[in-house]
Amino acid sequence: MTESQTEEFTLRPFDPERDAHRLREIIGEIWSGGDDALLEREFGVIGGRPWAEWLSDAILTYLQAEKTRSFVAEHGGEVVGFCSYVIDPARKRGTVGYNGVARNHQGRGLGSAMLDFVLSRFRAEGMDHAVVIVGDNEEHLPARRNYEKHGFRRLTGYHYMVQKL
Ligand SMILES: CC(C)(COP(=O)(O)OP(=O)(O)OC[C@H]1O[C@@H](n2cnc3c(N)ncnc32)[C@H](O)[C@@H]1OP(=O)(O)O)[C@@H](O)C(=O)NCCC(=O)NCCS
Repeated sequence: MTESQTEEFTLRPFDPERDAHRLREIIGEIWSGGDDALLEREFGVIGGRPWAEWLSDAILTYLQAEKTRSFVAEHGGEVVGFCSYVIDPARKRGTVGYNGVARNHQGRGLGSAMLDFVLSRFRAEGMDHAVVIVGDNEEHLPARRNYEKHGFRRLTGYHYMVQKL
């Protein structure tokens, strides 16, 4: 299945040519709690480019990777969100990938609907487990709550450590 419909949003496969510019806009407005933004806040602009450009590059590379299945959500003809996942058939493990919702469309059920979609794909493909990695900072609270609402529980944490050289 490559398309699914919620009450207000349509999900379709990510198309780099068509969607990259809009996804860069969305990433820049919603991801100020990611590691690129945190490092910039701590040390100033890195490599002469703002955090949103570095992060957009990384997310777009992930979305286009061979193993990644990537989708965008449209509302009224405009892309307002995206989601992605990777299937590991040997381990029967699905990994939830980058997902996000444009700021002025948050809180309306899209993030939840996209996670339902991803989990339904895992089940349809015979996965036994679903995993996701999410930050423990305040900016990632909505994401953590969304994952918990869909049945995820914390297994372990990681420390993201840094030093100025
Ligand atoms: C996480 C994110 C995708 C959720 O999208 P959304 O469309 O706003 O989420 P929904 O409206 O579907 O809400 C789903 C659940 O998320 C949680 N949630 C959403 N916004 C929240 C907030 N401001 N505070 C706490 N929990 C929140 C709730 O559990 C909510 O369920 P409920 O409404 O039944 O309480 C969105 O906040 C986002 O893009 N965040 C920035 C990027 C990010 O962190 N991505 C995930 C990491 S890869």
